[in-house]
Amino acid sequence: MRKKIVAGNWKMNLDYSEGLALFSEVVNMVNDEATGNQQVVVCSPFIHLHSLAALAKGYSNVAIGAQNAHQAESGAYTGEISAKQVKSTGAEYVILGHSERRQYFGENNELLATKTDTALKNGLKPIFCIGETLQEREAEKHFNIIKSQLVEGVFHLDADAFGTLVLAYEPVWAIGTGVTATSDQAQEIHAFIRKEIAAKYSQAVADATTILYGGSCNPKNAAELFGCADIDGGLIGGASLKSRDFTDIVKAFN
Ligand code: 13P
Repeated sequence: MRKKIVAGNWKMNLDYSEGLALFSEVVNMVNDEATGNQQVVVCSPFIHLHSLAALAKGYSNVAIGAQNAHQAESGAYTGEISAKQVKSTGAEYVILGHSERRQYFGENNELLATKTDTALKNGLKPIFCIGETLQEREAEKHFNIIKSQLVEGVFHLDADAFGTLVLAYEPVWAIGTGVTATSDQAQEIHAFIRKEIAAKYSQAVADATTILYGGSCNPKNAAELFGCADIDGGLIGGASLKSRDFTDIVKAFN
């Protein structure tokens, strides 16, 4: 059975002590809620990773992730952080391909394919984000966009390596806007993604892949979204900054 995951993406929020305070609140509340094959992942800024990973050790269903890592192994890239450095903090996951990285930092599919390889090589599990803009959806290009993000970003991997990925469908028009994809819209894309994985690899690989939904997910809409056949959890932005909201989203699994 594929893993069910609720992942928080704190983005560039919370200073060091604020992050620790939020995590301490969240970790006790969510660990009891996430059972069996459910996992909670908190993707914090780099500055929190080591401290959060140390705290998370005591909680079987809680893991830590970064929000980015560089494509090179190491070297003269002032200000950047490598996958190996992220891994050395105790973090297990790394978000790659988030639309904010694509939009503001010019990250394209080709670069993201390299970042994915480097992350995997260093033992990190990528949470690989894909999703169309409003313009692309209105032009009815969303299926093509999603497919090319998969093909160019991650379909170069062999089945074993692909099996360590988590995918996240995040329609850009739903991120931070308060406009959520309807459960029908989200399910339609998730089913499409799973079909493409089955065609590329196998039905077994497709069935084992965790596909998260992200974009204005909140305690009110989470249960309906997570109730869809192909939606295996969420990647949560704004609501992950409030311990009560985040915990309620984790509870929406049950
Ligand atoms: P919001 O939940 O704030 O819309 O952000 C979603 C997101 O970008 C998670 O990665």
